[in-house]
Amino acid sequence: MFVCLGNICRSPMAELVFCDMLKKAGRESEFVVQSSATSDENVWNGVGSPVYPPICKLLQAKGISCVGKRAQVLTKAHGEEFDLLICMDDSNVRNARRIVGEINAHKCVKLLSFAGESGNVADPWSTRDFEMAYADIKRGLDGLLKQL
Ligand code: 4NP
Repeated sequence: MFVCLGNICRSPMAELVFCDMLKKAGRESEFVVQSSATSDENVWNGVGSPVYPPICKLLQAKGISCVGKRAQVLTKAHGEEFDLLICMDDSNVRNARRIVGEINAHKCVKLLSFAGESGNVADPWSTRDFEMAYADIKRGLDGLLKQL
């Protein structure tokens, strides 16, 4: 489960790119991959927002479709269901741990830790630099796939 604040930029990008990588590696049947938000800002009356258009455009250029992906909020039950809750930054880790509780707090890790880095994925909501977020996410996902 990839986790960010709004589930319309970073974590859906990680989900969709990782699914594409798994498909190309012939390993998609081995994993359940989703993404979710620590806030409910992008879910209205139970309906999640689609992926942020600039992210869709970037992914489309790489042959990856965002069609059908809608924001969802991370729940305590996800903490039971998933083996890893892979967060984009420190505040996501703090919030995700609060949501899933102490018993599954150890599952909340940062994506870039799989690349051997201690930093956060650049937040394109504030930087407006979508390629930089993609580059960070791809480094983390390459390390993750290697580890899996
Ligand atoms: P994300 O980016 O956490 O990467 O999906 C954001 C999207 C929306 C908001 C903040 C961050 N927002 O404040 O609505």
